[in-house]
Amino acid sequence: MRKKIGTIFIPGLESLLDSKIIHEDSILTEIQSWAESESIPMLSPVSSYLMASLVRWLGVKSYIELGTGAGYSLLGLGIRSNRILNIATVDRNLNQSEKVEAFWKQAKMKFNHTITFYRMNILDGMREAKYYPEDYEMVFVDCDKITYPNLLDELLQRSRTKRSVIKYILFDNVLWHGRILNEEANKPSDKAMQVFWKKIEELDLIKTILPSGDGMLLLEL
Ligand SMILES: C[S@@+](CC[C@H](N)C(=O)[O-])C[C@H]1O[C@@H](n2cnc3c(N)ncnc32)[C@H](O)[C@@H]1O
Repeated sequence: MRKKIGTIFIPGLESLLDSKIIHEDSILTEIQSWAESESIPMLSPVSSYLMASLVRWLGVKSYIELGTGAGYSLLGLGIRSNRILNIATVDRNLNQSEKVEAFWKQAKMKFNHTITFYRMNILDGMREAKYYPEDYEMVFVDCDKITYPNLLDELLQRSRTKRSVIKYILFDNVLWHGRILNEEANKPSDKAMQVFWKKIEELDLIKTILPSGDGMLLLEL
């Protein structure tokens, strides 16, 4: 997620790196302009590229994104994929999600991926069995930080069921604009990220921190 409130990079470096990312389809530039003009947070271009590369390198065949946002990471993945993917994406913002669906239909992609747009609250939707994140090999989490601790618990619990095919969970914003350094930070989102990190520390899993954008964390299950 890109926020003007802070970056872990020295001034100018993150935007320089982002400017090196080539948009293979002008729709990504269109989405970026739309996101900037309407202040819709989106994954940084470098992180979006990295996420799509991870999906390719890890041979992931199915992917669910929790937090569709402007659709920047979603469209980037669809365009950069080297195989047909089964994709789902969840967001509670109906208008935004409908616009992303229209972008998806316009994009020039090598493959006809299958895609489902769920329009609902992420945690409530899965708890009410409106969708099943455990049906996807990679779960990418890019939603409100207050939800992160409960979402982590819920996803781990589901990953232990027989039905689950989850292999990877990828979280964005794990560095929280550097605010995780400040133990006194006490906004609800700060406290949620402190709880999230405590839970992560206690997890006996392979955890890779990717210091790209606002920091991503890859859990291998
Ligand atoms: C940071 S944006 C996602 C950016 C997206 N990955 C991109 O690159 O365009 C977060 C999105 O998650 C949605 N969101 C946040 N918390 C949510 C929740 N608890 N349930 C459903 N949607 C949520 C917001 O509406 C917002 O569109």
